[in-house]
Amino acid sequence: MTASRINARTAPAAVFPPLAEHPVEYRRVYVWELPVRVYHWINAVTLVLLCISGYIIGAPIRAFYAAEAYQQYWFGWVRFIHFVCAFVYVFNFAARIYWGFNSNKYARWNAFFPLTRAQRQEMVDVFKADVLQTKLHGPISTGHNAVAGFVYFFTFLAFVAQTITGFALYSSMSNSWLPRMFTWIVPLMGGEASVRSWHHLLLWFFVSFIIIHIYLAFYHDYIEGRGTISSIVGGWKFEREKQDD
Ligand code: HEM
Ligand code: HEM
Repeated sequence: MTASRINARTAPAAVFPPLAEHPVEYRRVYVWELPVRVYHWINAVTLVLLCISGYIIGAPIRAFYAAEAYQQYWFGWVRFIHFVCAFVYVFNFAARIYWGFNSNKYARWNAFFPLTRAQRQEMVDVFKADVLQTKLHGPISTGHNAVAGFVYFFTFLAFVAQTITGFALYSSMSNSWLPRMFTWIVPLMGGEASVRSWHHLLLWFFVSFIIIHIYLAFYHDYIEGRGTISSIVGGWKFEREKQDD
C-alpha cells in the first residue's frame, strides 16, 4: 500500500481497513518459543544493567567520595553487578546461539540474513516505512522482518566483541579459567588502554540500539497491528490470510 506519508491518526485504518468493507481473517501463529522469550528478557535486563554499571565504572560519580575510599564499598558493588551480569549475559547468549540451530524457523540462524529476493525487497519496504515514511508496508514477515534480523546479526557481533574485550580486561584481575583464556587479547589489541577504549565505545552502540529497538518495536506494533509487543511476552503473533497489496 503506497501512502504519501504515514498519518498518525489514519495509519492503522489504512493498513487494516474497517471490517465492514474488507473482512480480514487472521491466523494465530506461535512465533517466539519459550527459550527465545526467556533469552530476550534476560538479555534485556542484563544489558541495561551492564550499560549503567559500565558507564559508572568509566565515569565514577565523585560526590560519593566524601568519605575515604576505604570507608565505603559502593564502587565495589557497581563492579560486582557488572561482573555478575557479564557472566549471566554471556551464558545466556551462548544458549541463544545453541537455540539458533534447534528452534523453529522464525528464530533459526538463517532468519538473520537476507538470503532471498523477497527478504531484500522487504528491506526496501521496511526502510521506506521506518525511515522515509513514504510507504506503510509491503508483505510483512511473521518473524523478524528482514532489516530487524540483519541488525540483530550485527548486534550479536557486537555482543561477541564486548565479551572478548570484557574478558580481556577481566583477565588481569581474575585467576578463573574463563577470563584467563582471554589474556592474549590484551597485547594483540595494543594494551589495556586500547581494549578499554573499544569496550567503552561499544557501550554507545548498545545504548543506541536499545533506544531505536524499543521505539521500532512499538512503532511496528502500531502500524502492523498484529501483536508485535505481546509476541515477545506470550509468543503469539497474528498473520493475515491475505495481504492487501
Ligand atoms: C555487553 C555489555 C557490556 C557493556 C555495555 C559494558 C560496558 C562497560 C563500560 C562502559 C566499562 C567502563 C570502561 C571505561 O573504563 O571507560 C566497562 C568496564 C569493564 N567491563 Fe564491561 N561491559 C559489557 C560487558 C562486559 C563483559 C561481558 C565483561 C566480562 C567480564 C566485562 C568486563 C568489564 C571489566 C573487567 C571492566 C573494567 C572494570 C574496572 O576496571 O573496574 N564487561 N564495561
Ligand atoms: C532493553 C534492552 C533490549 C534489548 C537488548 C533487546 C534485544 C533484542 C534482540 C537481540 C532481539 C532478537 C531476539 C532473537 O531472535 O534472539 C529482540 C527482539 C524483540 N524485542 Fe527486544 N530488546 C530489548 C528490549 C525490548 C523491549 C522493552 C521490547 C518491547 C516491549 C522489546 C521487544 C522486542 C520484540 C517485539 C522482538 C521481536 C521483534 C521482531 O519481530 O524482530 N525488546 N530484542
